Amino acid sequence: MKIFVTGGAGFIGGNFVYYMLKTHPDYDIVCLDALTYAGNLETLSDALENPRFTFVKIDITDRQAVFSLFDKERPDIVVNFAAESHVDRSILNPEIFLKTNILGTQALMDACKEYGVKRYHQVSTDEVYGDLPLDRPDLLFTETTPILTSSPYSASKASADLLVQAYCRTYGLPATISRCSNNYGPYHFPEKLIPLMIINILKGKPLPVYGDGKNVRDWLYVEDHCSAIDLIIHNGSIGEIYNIGGNNERSNLQIVELLIKTLGKGEIKFVRDRAGHDLRYAIDSTKIKTQLGWVPETRFEDGIRKTVDWYLDNRSWWENIVSGEYTNYYRKMYEERG
Ligand code: NAD
Ligand code: DAU
Repeated sequence: MKIFVTGGAGFIGGNFVYYMLKTHPDYDIVCLDALTYAGNLETLSDALENPRFTFVKIDITDRQAVFSLFDKERPDIVVNFAAESHVDRSILNPEIFLKTNILGTQALMDACKEYGVKRYHQVSTDEVYGDLPLDRPDLLFTETTPILTSSPYSASKASADLLVQAYCRTYGLPATISRCSNNYGPYHFPEKLIPLMIINILKGKPLPVYGDGKNVRDWLYVEDHCSAIDLIIHNGSIGEIYNIGGNNERSNLQIVELLIKTLGKGEIKFVRDRAGHDLRYAIDSTKIKTQLGWVPETRFEDGIRKTVDWYLDNRSWWENIVSGEYTNYYRKMYEERG
């Protein structure tokens, strides 16, 4: 069995590469990644030692390159993680989000069609459902919740989902979609809430909480997302969407306070809110649990401890990122935020 993993030099794709190498000792994994600002070969340094793993630097919007790799490697399964993934960046510059997240998905699916790939899996997000009110804890996103997006990022992911469903129905592409809540864990790029706060605490910098910090996210340890995708690509039904969530709702303020407590220091600074900021995400994962038997294994407190330890033990991984081009991004995003 040969699996193409796009975006494998990023956070979740990288964790998925390790998960699959460990869980399926007879599979070959080929990672396709353009190595954008978010892609990092250091994340894959151990995988690169494994003879069952191959890395190919490729932009998924480059149709010719994509087709010629499919022609050469003939994958059985394609799992598409490759995306522009940060909401704040999509507000500054939407265009690359539309290009990679929509046209990149199309190029991959066209290649899957051409080369008879047995399964195409689209890694989507709970953000396609928009947000839920803070004062209705009884409401959760299910797979039939209407798509109602808030940011250019979520609009691009929702567009890709619609395209996947269209390819499935019109061309019979054997596709599945998963929509997961917020992940956390090792190799998480420093621009995102949890790693940003851990790194700022370690560097003695203020902790920038958007708005009043009451927005709620549903957190899932990244390895539990990987196990869910593994189940879907093997046992999920063609044409189906599966929600994946941690049942772990926390306000941003609760997250930052927990990290301050875990690391024993840190100073919160409330800053200007994100434009169009989604209030609350909460996922109902009943379908994947009952139909595929998925069980998330990592308790939130354990996952946070493991994550903090990983950032303490892998300082050079994130120091290399935050000392480079990222400095300009941080200045632009935070210094004028007040
Ligand atoms: P990430 O930003 O850490 O990694 C994205 C990877 O994709 C990088 O390695 C980057 O180099 C690569 N990439 C970007 N554009 C590319 C292109 N044109 N061609 C090839 N490679 C390209 O993202 P992540 O947080 O690991 O998210 C992975 C996927 O999971 C995304 O599709 C995202 O929408 C989805 N998702 C993320 C979360 C989360 O909490 N992080 C939750 C649900 C769904
Ligand atoms: O829900 C799944 C989504 O989760 C994925 O589809 C996205 O790819 C992923 O980036 C993530 O999106 P969020 O916008 O929820 O994640 P982020 O880490 O950017 O922000 C989490 C919350 O923390 C959000 O309410 C904004 C807030 N925040 C974020 C940053 C970076 C702050 O208050 N301060 C910050 O500095």
